[in-house]
Amino acid sequence: MNIYNLNNNEIDLSTKNIYVLLLNFSMLNYQDYMTYLSDDEIQRVDNINNKIKKNQFVISRAIVKKLLSKYLSKIPNQIEFSYNKHGKPFVPEKYNNHSLEFNISHSDIYGLIAITLDNKIGVDIQRVNHDINIDSLSERFFSEDEKEQLMKFDKNKRADVFHNCWVKKESFIKAIGSGVAYGLDNFSVSLEENHRNYVLDLKNKKWYCYKLIEFENYKTALTMETKSNIFLSYKENYISNILH
Ligand SMILES: CC(C)(COP(=O)(O)OP(=O)(O)OC[C@H]1O[C@@H](n2cnc3c(N)ncnc32)[C@H](O)[C@@H]1OP(=O)(O)O)[C@@H](O)C(=O)NCCC(=O)NCCS
Repeated sequence: MNIYNLNNNEIDLSTKNIYVLLLNFSMLNYQDYMTYLSDDEIQRVDNINNKIKKNQFVISRAIVKKLLSKYLSKIPNQIEFSYNKHGKPFVPEKYNNHSLEFNISHSDIYGLIAITLDNKIGVDIQRVNHDINIDSLSERFFSEDEKEQLMKFDKNKRADVFHNCWVKKESFIKAIGSGVAYGLDNFSVSLEENHRNYVLDLKNKKWYCYKLIEFENYKTALTMETKSNIFLSYKENYISNILH
């Protein structure tokens, strides 16, 4: 498994490659992208009450749908996702979907989209929040092993370590699709800061968890069922290149 830079806009989906796009919503206006959404999504936008969250939802959906539209031979606003019982959106089989898989995450002005074929994937991005109470959150959501690992770090490092752990855990529960219902304290990831990848061995099934990039104050991670190459893009101009 390798992580490559995605240097041009060519996304050529295959089972061997996972494409991950980093999005910056700060310069964009969701109203410009509403035409990509289906009716049910447009209704959802009405219930979102701030512009950052509207940007997160509309723009990441617009990009995913534009990418999928090529493979589904449908215009983006005709693609209506189905949802599993924990809310994970997916491409319904009725579209003859070629096993298209995607996952979305957003935090403040940044978002991540991962897309591939025939592989269960989950992504997570999180802005480090220094105001949270790390002790009580780790007590509540981390496994015993993770709590022990966390305590070994100096206090001034714990916020970073905590958030790196958090995105790994979230990417896993998003890959399997159960979200927090899985129980975040039911499994452990490595908190070693230089462990770029980590295999989660759960009930004799392996999942591959990768720390992606750390930038500004953000942490990111990706979990996949089958080991694949990762192509990562964090070009500012990506959104306009894809959508226009
Ligand atoms: C999924 C979950 C982990 C997301 O956590 P988060 O850090 O707040 O949000 P993120 O920005 O990382 O991810 C949100 C995106 O994940 C996707 N998503 C939603 N539910 C998901 C799930 N169960 N598994 C994987 N991905 C999911 C969606 O694309 C969503 O973005 P969008 O609605 O704008 O398209 C969390 O909300 C959760 O566990 N939800 C499940 C709740 C549930 O069981 N609900 C049942 C009734 S629907």
